[in-house]
Amino acid sequence: MKSFSISINKKINKFKNTIMVDGDKSISHRFFLIASQAIGVSKASGILEAGDIFNTISALRKLNVKILKKKNEYYVFGNGLGSFKIKKNTSINCGNAGTLSRLLCGMLVSYPVKIKLFGDKSLNKRPMRRIIEPLQKFGMSFYPKNKSTLPLIVSGSQIPMPNEYDEKIGSAQIKSTLINASLLSPGISKINEIKKSRNHHEIMLKHAGANIKIKKNTIIIKGESEFNSFNLKVPGDISSASFFIALTILSKNSKIVIKNICLNPTRAGIITILKKMRANIKIKNIKKVCGETTGDIIVNSSKLKKINCPKSLVPYAIDEFCILMIIAAGATGTSTFSGLGELNKKESPRLNIMNEILNKIGIKTIKKKDSIKIFGNPNLNLKNNYIVKSYMKDHRVCMASVIAALSFGGKWEIKNAECVATSFPSFYKLIKKVGGIIEKK
Ligand code: S3P
Repeated sequence: MKSFSISINKKINKFKNTIMVDGDKSISHRFFLIASQAIGVSKASGILEAGDIFNTISALRKLNVKILKKKNEYYVFGNGLGSFKIKKNTSINCGNAGTLSRLLCGMLVSYPVKIKLFGDKSLNKRPMRRIIEPLQKFGMSFYPKNKSTLPLIVSGSQIPMPNEYDEKIGSAQIKSTLINASLLSPGISKINEIKKSRNHHEIMLKHAGANIKIKKNTIIIKGESEFNSFNLKVPGDISSASFFIALTILSKNSKIVIKNICLNPTRAGIITILKKMRANIKIKNIKKVCGETTGDIIVNSSKLKKINCPKSLVPYAIDEFCILMIIAAGATGTSTFSGLGELNKKESPRLNIMNEILNKIGIKTIKKKDSIKIFGNPNLNLKNNYIVKSYMKDHRVCMASVIAALSFGGKWEIKNAECVATSFPSFYKLIKKVGGIIEKK
């Protein structure tokens, strides 16, 4: 994609709007991956059409999965578990998509063929040991030995072994990777969720009729049990919605309605956090769609107070901390976020970078290895020039900076602003719709 910078020189005026954001990224990835293992043709609407998901579609096509788009629906022609056809010297580009690179490894556990997986500059830096070690127990091999980042050569086993694993990080990517490996391994596998994380994978597999059971904190999978194709409606992504929630909260006399958002409690941590900060947020029109909870989010401008964010909420808002830190900068009092160790392992070291951006705009912080204290200023009114570097083309850092510029003022230049297309291609169009002025350079 062609790179460009943007400049923002004006705070947004008050607005009242109703919007819909792009489809949920986690659910969209999972639709293609899970449907490729089902028997028959699965169909989905509302799929996120963004860089990360295009990488998932291309990866599956390379493994001989037929995927078509007709009108606004995607069709995946599944041939059951273990039905990939893998050519010699196959190599798969996962782009920026951590979810694809990890979840796909689990799906290759039963193929004793060498496949190369690699990503872009950012993905090639992200930790893979977290899935390498448990997948080795299923019988998978990774080369070069002792390397723990992409590019990697992976090779499955003819007879993968079922396993039991304690997931302690609170990572849905690890959990889902191991569920994928378990589906292909004969016998019973168990994953004990010591720290809970988003559960879209379990929900979608149940929706598809797969042999997966959840007893308290244990996920039990009976391997080699086929399941049938399914239809899916993908709701809007709360991670994308969060930028517009923030913009509304931080702007005066404004209101937004964001329709049809996935409100799965393992994803809606930001709503709980913002309500604790006294944000004026209401949820309406709650429904269950294909096993997922959805609803409309209604937000009004709010005067926020500080928060001491409970660590238990971190996995349920893990992708929202960039924007939460911007929100805390505009709240009264000193907010504390801890248990953020995972944040520096995302598309960029987000804890360090957001700390740098906050300091640049005059917000005092105290950052430690996995926590940050933010000394908020509800009267923040910026006047200077600010340059936001590319920061590994991190889409969420870029969008959080746009919201800071539109909410706090000043003259901003944001580099590599095309990166929002990784997760939220309609972002700039929607900013324009609510009245934000952005100049493309
Ligand atoms: C995701 C899980 C989270 C999240 C990522 C998407 C998923 O990662 O940050 O954007 O779809 O499973 P971790 O599992 O590393 O926490």
